[in-house]
Amino acid sequence: MLKDHSLRSGIWVGAAMDSSQPQDQQQDLKSHFTALTSENAFKWSSMETFQGQIDFTQTDQMVQFAQDNNFRIRAHTLFWHRMQNPSWVRDQIESAADHKTKLLELMDARISQVVGRYKGRVDIWDVVNEPLRIDGKGWDIKDGLLGSANFFYLAAGEQYIDYAFAKTRATDPRAKLFLNEYLSRPALNDFKSQSLLALLTRLKKRKVPIDGVGLQLHGFGSVKSPFFSNSSKELSDYMKAIAKLGLHVEITELDISLPAVIKDFAAPGASDQQHLKLQANLYGNAAKACAQTSACSGITVWGLRDKDSWLNSFVPGGPHRPLLLDDNGSPKPAYTALAAGLLQRCHGITLNAKLCSEPWPNPQNAGVPYPARTCNECVKPALKNNILKINSLAWKWQRPIQRYSYQWMQSTMSSNSSYVAIHYATNSALFKPSHRQHLRWVKVCVRAYNDYGWSAQVCSSPRGPFRS
Ligand code: XIL
Repeated sequence: MLKDHSLRSGIWVGAAMDSSQPQDQQQDLKSHFTALTSENAFKWSSMETFQGQIDFTQTDQMVQFAQDNNFRIRAHTLFWHRMQNPSWVRDQIESAADHKTKLLELMDARISQVVGRYKGRVDIWDVVNEPLRIDGKGWDIKDGLLGSANFFYLAAGEQYIDYAFAKTRATDPRAKLFLNEYLSRPALNDFKSQSLLALLTRLKKRKVPIDGVGLQLHGFGSVKSPFFSNSSKELSDYMKAIAKLGLHVEITELDISLPAVIKDFAAPGASDQQHLKLQANLYGNAAKACAQTSACSGITVWGLRDKDSWLNSFVPGGPHRPLLLDDNGSPKPAYTALAAGLLQRCHGITLNAKLCSEPWPNPQNAGVPYPARTCNECVKPALKNNILKINSLAWKWQRPIQRYSYQWMQSTMSSNSSYVAIHYATNSALFKPSHRQHLRWVKVCVRAYNDYGWSAQVCSSPRGPFRS
């Protein structure tokens, strides 16, 4: 059901996946999700314990798994000062005569080797993770209990972020680039949320090539923050403020500790079922907030089964049971609530006819079976099992396509840049030049229909001169 609602709403639903996880959890992912994030595999210390000896085993496997199973994949993360860096990185920067030059040199190497290797195969890079101080004001300038000083910032100032994004964009132009941040209270009037907005505003002003922002939303300790309250408005208002900067936004690391829910919300003596229901409400709110914000393109939970959650080893007071699937992989009430929340995106629209919005980034060339454009446009066609392949350029979906329509576009100026539609037909044979033989350049655009709706239009490259 969750997967189905992800497809209908156009909101990607992902889970963090660790390389150590056994096969049955890969099956969980296939059964319930449409996206995945690497939990640890892409972190610097997981890949390059010794400088220059990069181990691509886990990342190769994960990217291949995503590709084979049509998951959107988010590679997490290129630069995170707080944790999981090999010690040589910081040592070299700090012992160099010019810290900034050394930092940029190391960033350069990591981006060209890692991003360069997976270029075109990773959908989203979490380029920079948690740049701001965990508790709000400014930057981590000293080492603390919760991790290292921001030695990237200390070496190069905010420019390290600009540099990381620019270089990643240049290396993998098709991927979407995100900055990911932890906020204990994502709300317009919250201190750290304001610092994040201010940082994003500066990045946009400097034309840093950033596409979106990930809000982690780990829920532990106290979960009485606005997004965990009874209304999803605080969170969606904050997301909308991010969207106003021209950015996409996603919930990237959602988990909600059950002991924290019990502490903050449960009546004394409430049953386990009641506790799980309270947890489910909070999950539902997060999903609604995303669904109500058109710039929100995805929700990812930080793990598959309860027993695998990082909270169990990082935060005292467990087991936290913070995820959507219980220890055996069965869906919990939180699962149902999250799935229901997604459909708020199509609120007020009749289910059998109209669903969905276009997922982003659009995976049309990645073999992913995504359909729709907006809630208003989506339809549920009746035909079945026609797999349409125009050519490798135009269409790569593996999902059965039931119907298609196409139009020919003609160049008006013998160039491939300016087209007007000359013909439109449904279920007709393709590439019949017929009476249009005098055309100089032609391209064909196709829109396919499957059981979830219709796709974005996909066009072939121009062909011409088109003569038979
Ligand atoms: C956590 C992983 O889940 C753990 O397995 C690992 O030991 C430590 O990191 N914010 C982040 C994630 O951005 O990368 C963290 O993941 C959780 C907090």
